[in-house]
Amino acid sequence: MSNVYVKTKHRSYYIHIEERDWKPFIIYLKESLKSNRLLIVCDDNVHKLYYQSIDIMLSEAKFDHDVVVVPHGEATKSIKWAEKLYTKAIDNRLDRQSTIVALGGGVVGDLSGFIAATYMRGIGFVQVPTTLLAQIDSSVGGKVAINHLMAKNIVGSFYQPSMVYINISTLETLSEREFLSGLAELIKYGFIWDYEFLNWMDDNIDKILARDIEALKNAIAKACKIKAHIVSIDETEQGIRAILNFGHTIGHAIEAATNYKIYTHGEAIAIGMIYETKLAYNLGLINRQYLDNMIFLFKRCSLPTDLKDVDTSLLMDKMSLDKKNKGGDIVFVLPVDAGEVEIFSNIDKDILEKTLAKGCE
Ligand code: NAD
Ligand code: GLY
Repeated sequence: MSNVYVKTKHRSYYIHIEERDWKPFIIYLKESLKSNRLLIVCDDNVHKLYYQSIDIMLSEAKFDHDVVVVPHGEATKSIKWAEKLYTKAIDNRLDRQSTIVALGGGVVGDLSGFIAATYMRGIGFVQVPTTLLAQIDSSVGGKVAINHLMAKNIVGSFYQPSMVYINISTLETLSEREFLSGLAELIKYGFIWDYEFLNWMDDNIDKILARDIEALKNAIAKACKIKAHIVSIDETEQGIRAILNFGHTIGHAIEAATNYKIYTHGEAIAIGMIYETKLAYNLGLINRQYLDNMIFLFKRCSLPTDLKDVDTSLLMDKMSLDKKNKGGDIVFVLPVDAGEVEIFSNIDKDILEKTLAKGCE
């Protein structure tokens, strides 16, 4: 077991990283709650795999709990499903002392967190992430949101959980595609903050790909520490937190332009990181070796690196709706050195369009 502390103005909490055991979850849950009334939210896949045993433990520990099962997939991060969850919260007589527990990936975490943040102007919230992406990114730092048909994560808030419990063994049931998608966001930490971490990844990539629990524990703890540090400095993205969005300006546009149907979130972010790095190269910010190293690592992880069949003008249109935009300018997080990125607006439109359409020579 290892613990990472997240300290923010609004709430400070521990991320507990456990290899297999669920028992400490019940202990930490009791410690972090104001009352024993809980509403667990999970999607249909996670419900089948994990809910029964958690239900038994919660009953034995005398929690007053119920579960709501939502369909898996990005489409569930919607106003329609938010409304259903509010109804379920009212039916269960959740009050301000009650807690919503997100058991699942980033979709369930973002949606449930949005409900916890807004129902009665805020009730208790606990994250139990079960995908690699959720364990290293979405469950940490308090960004909660739902999508609008026109734009991703456009309705949301910053709302920190009171506890995050990571049981790494849940990754054993994750599909290969979803596991690799999480790797994209894991690799991101090396490019934005700690290039040494990429060397470690390089040395340990076979173990990571084989889901060796010890290697995963190190990688997850490293990622959580980096994210906790950044969020502790800048909880509400007034400055440095924006670097966590490396790959996301193009990545979110790819997801929206393809109606969230072709790429997983992690795959879209992988392509977004590659194309934002190509943009940095075309702007003269980094050298060719930097880009080639990145493409090599992504290929080793079987992550997509090419932007195919997505119309450049549609991507430009989707990027014009990005939350980070300032005064009509699209904002990018671009690499400038090993483990270092900077925030740019005012990017030359022709270079951007050429990069999206043709990459780089
Ligand atoms: P997801 O929640 O859709 O989960 C992916 C798939 O894995 C689903 O089909 C799910 O049912 C299944 N699954 C989950 N856990 C499993 C397990 N242990 N075994 C087998 N199957 C399992 O996707 P995700 O990649 O976890 O999250 C993507 C979402 O996270 C996007 O909506 C993205 O916008 C959001 N996100 C949020 C933040 C944030 O800071 N809040 C950061 C990054 C991403
Ligand atoms: N995933 C970006 C952030 O949490 O800020």
